[in-house]
Amino acid sequence: MDRIAELAKRKTFGIVSHPDAGKTTLTEKLLLFGGAIQEAGAVKSNKIKKHATSDFMEIEKQRGISVATSVMAFEYRDKQVNILDTPGHKDFAEDTYRTLTAVDSVIVVIDVAKGVEEQTEKLVEVCRMRNTPIIVFINKLDREGKDAFDLLDEVEGKLKLKVTPLSWPVGMGQRFKGVYSLYEKNLILFNPHGKQEEEGIVKIENLDDKLLDARIGEREAAELREEVETITSVYPEFERQNYLNGDICPVFFGSAVNNFGVRELLDCFIDIAPNPLPRETEEREILPEEEKFTGFVFKIHANMDPKHRDRIAFLRICSGVFERNTNYFHVRQGKNMKFPNPTAFMASKKSVIDEAYPGDIVGLYDSGNFKIGDTLTEGEILHFKGIPSFSPEQFRFVNNTDPMKTKQLAKGLDQLMDEGVAQLFTKEDNGRKIIGTVGALQFEVIQHRLKNEYGASCNYEPVNLYKACWVTCKDPLALKEFISRRKKDLAKDTDGKLVFLAESAWTMKMAQENHPDVEFHFTSEI
Ligand code: G4P
Repeated sequence: MDRIAELAKRKTFGIVSHPDAGKTTLTEKLLLFGGAIQEAGAVKSNKIKKHATSDFMEIEKQRGISVATSVMAFEYRDKQVNILDTPGHKDFAEDTYRTLTAVDSVIVVIDVAKGVEEQTEKLVEVCRMRNTPIIVFINKLDREGKDAFDLLDEVEGKLKLKVTPLSWPVGMGQRFKGVYSLYEKNLILFNPHGKQEEEGIVKIENLDDKLLDARIGEREAAELREEVETITSVYPEFERQNYLNGDICPVFFGSAVNNFGVRELLDCFIDIAPNPLPRETEEREILPEEEKFTGFVFKIHANMDPKHRDRIAFLRICSGVFERNTNYFHVRQGKNMKFPNPTAFMASKKSVIDEAYPGDIVGLYDSGNFKIGDTLTEGEILHFKGIPSFSPEQFRFVNNTDPMKTKQLAKGLDQLMDEGVAQLFTKEDNGRKIIGTVGALQFEVIQHRLKNEYGASCNYEPVNLYKACWVTCKDPLALKEFISRRKKDLAKDTDGKLVFLAESAWTMKMAQENHPDVEFHFTSEI
């Protein structure tokens, strides 16, 4: 099939939300529309509750399940939609950040009652850094919640996004009558018991139409007219280009569990969401239309079965066509590799594919060759940008407790770090190793996996650290001076990059003040 036509069919995106806002439910409804699943509950039943857990086995279970639901692809209106799952558990934050590097747009789900929550703020910040186009879906309108205008203010204030509503609710909770689509100029009437019927959609081009009063009542109609007037005077008119530039976010209202407002969201998404976008590398920009294949690994998943050490590396295709059993160049390792069994993910099914196009994600079986951020090409030396590590928030010294298993421990730690489970720093002064994670549970997961998968044992020792940041300096003399003065606070990450380990906000500030020529970076992308 024509490469350019295939590319034009792809829409690759992620859904982000705070746990419980309705991401899983929305994903499921989208898959139902796409015919990728036949019944509600198929994705949901795969889900493990993400909150209220101090049991790391929950994370282990999620890890197993999330292979199946990592990428879900379906066809809708002649387009191929690829949804990338963004893990919801707070301990997976970094995994989610990285998944966002492989999407071309996102849908943010917000609970009407809770408004903008913490995790959404963090994730949207990452999207904003990359100008990712965003659509906002305000969910659970069948429940009482915040005032719609207040919510828009909250989105603008907390998420620092400019918005323009493309649909508007008529009432909420008990009084929820439906939404008016400013995009399609339709009134969509809410039917709480299931399917949205065709007759529930009333074409109303002009809001002065008396039909509006007849369908939702005079008082509600008057209110809607007034609110829509306010919207048109306060919010900018929707222009696709502004959305594509990441300058403006369309907002939709609905109720995912009632399948309400979801089709409108999906139809608009199909109309406006970007096809695979160009990607930056250190060397040059890669256009998806280019004939030669390029792609990068954004996620690595270990096999849960300790007897099979193989892993799955998730590769995002950026240009050209990826073909099965063809030699590609692994840039970091400087060698050619071919893949006899690349898999595509269609909802929860996996199948071997012969070729894949830009925007697609393929799973490659890997026996330890890949690290997050690795690039495959047809020979060109390229390094994709935008797959940074972030400063961890929790740190501990790691000690080997079984001297007979030193090799196993080193190998296990190496591989877990390649997967992006945590970050490992080796201190410059005494060679001690420090593990840094985003969430505390990761320490237990690491200990458990080292034992189970590598037969190695370790324990942890507290270390008082506030932040790790990567340092660079244009002036070699100033760098040398910094290194000799701060040796006890310095370490190397697994790529050999120099890292400053600050004990407190104050130490951080002092280091910055005393060494003005040294640059401190809070992500590894420097
Ligand atoms: P998440 O993936 O973002 O964590 O959220 P999820 O879809 O699991 O939804 C969280 C809860 O919110 C679920 O209830 C779900 O049914 C409910 N929900 C989703 N959309 C809506 C909506 O439009 N209206 C209302 N009222 N509720 C909604 P739960 O009780 O945790 O699970 P379940 O027992 O219903 O499966």
